[in-house]
Amino acid sequence: MTTAADSDARTVERAHGVGIVGLGVISGQYLTTFRGRDDVAVVAVADLDVARAQAVARDIPGCRALSVAELVSDPQVDTVLNLTIPAAHAEIALQAFAAGKNVYGEKPPAATMTEARQVVAAVPVGAWLGGAPDTVLGTGIQTARAAVDAGLIGRPVSAIATWISGGHESWHPHPDFYYRPGGGPLLDMGPYYLTSLVQLLGPVVRVSGASSRSRDIRRIATGPRAGEEIPVEVDTHVTGTLVHEGGAISTVTFSFDGGETGAPPIEVHGEAGSLQAPDPNHFDGQVRMRRHGAQEWADVPTGAGYVGAGRGVGLVDFLRRDGGRASGAMALHVLEIMSSLLDAAAARRWVDITTTVERPAPVPLTRFGAVSR
Ligand SMILES: NC(=O)c1ccc[n+]([C@@H]2O[C@H](COP(=O)([O-])OP(=O)(O)OC[C@H]3O[C@@H](n4cnc5c(N)ncnc54)[C@H](O)[C@@H]3O)[C@@H](O)[C@H]2O)c1
Repeated sequence: MTTAADSDARTVERAHGVGIVGLGVISGQYLTTFRGRDDVAVVAVADLDVARAQAVARDIPGCRALSVAELVSDPQVDTVLNLTIPAAHAEIALQAFAAGKNVYGEKPPAATMTEARQVVAAVPVGAWLGGAPDTVLGTGIQTARAAVDAGLIGRPVSAIATWISGGHESWHPHPDFYYRPGGGPLLDMGPYYLTSLVQLLGPVVRVSGASSRSRDIRRIATGPRAGEEIPVEVDTHVTGTLVHEGGAISTVTFSFDGGETGAPPIEVHGEAGSLQAPDPNHFDGQVRMRRHGAQEWADVPTGAGYVGAGRGVGLVDFLRRDGGRASGAMALHVLEIMSSLLDAAAARRWVDITTTVERPAPVPLTRFGAVSR
């Protein structure tokens, strides 16, 4: 496998300053991605838990623990990386934009479409909004997209996306947010799958759905609050039908009310063959294809995407000449698909999608290693 060197990173006089707000479970993956790079530097961190922020800052050369208000207005911070819980995403983003910063955030971009529209409208001139998922820029989904774009399965007709689990309270020490508005299996896991479907099949114009809730209480299984019961305020089994602009139809299932599944994460069916894409919650994985009439599935060689990427590659992508693929416009479109699907389920009808997004430029096969100083 030949890859382009990590050479089109922007040439910078100083590293791009990142200030992280929210230092919970997922923050470690971002810190690992940025460690040792010379194009980005984590210059400040903030969390409601001040001791946690101080402990994280101590481990990063040149990094300070600040309050959120200090961090968003700090002159060394170019981009605020928002890793708080969904209910706080909009509030932090709006503070950062008021201070003229770029914002890159975890998904979803806001807990509701109304808040997300406020966030998008607040992006100052010269700044940008981006956000997770950036896993879709890895070799798994990018290789699948390259195969579809090359016509290997013919004209795509349909796709199936499936994510089923028993719920995150089995492993997350503070799983409350997964069961509040802004959470649920669709808003939590949907972004990976739906962003992939938009990458593969283009934007969505109409959705319908059905959803249910198996129980009103969940019990935390691990950590200091193990045994504690938490209320369930959202539907925990969500299914939907998505009509893409090009005519292909996706059927999707996201559930905290199952256990295991043997279903492939994503299958795309075309007029000439079918394709299986790997787990879009990861950056890599094997793409498989089966032309109509073939006896077996065949591996598709890895041919596109960031190789060796980790969470945060989407932020670094913004610093490149052709970058900005994990855009706020994509995050807003995907959030509208999800919130409209839930509205459609509640109202038992189809809902038209009002936002759209161009498919971002494909990612050529590019090594994403740490950049040596
Ligand atoms: N945990 C995962 O595996 C995972 C994976 C992918 C994405 N995410 C996403 O990352 C985000 C965070 O998830 P997590 O699992 O790290 O959550 P978490 O509860 O472990 O951490 C959230 C952190 O944000 C802090 N915080 C909350 N509100 C704040 C505010 N107003 N100001 C400052 N700090 C605040 C909390 O104190 C906490 O330290 C969520 O949007 C989630 O969907 C999580």
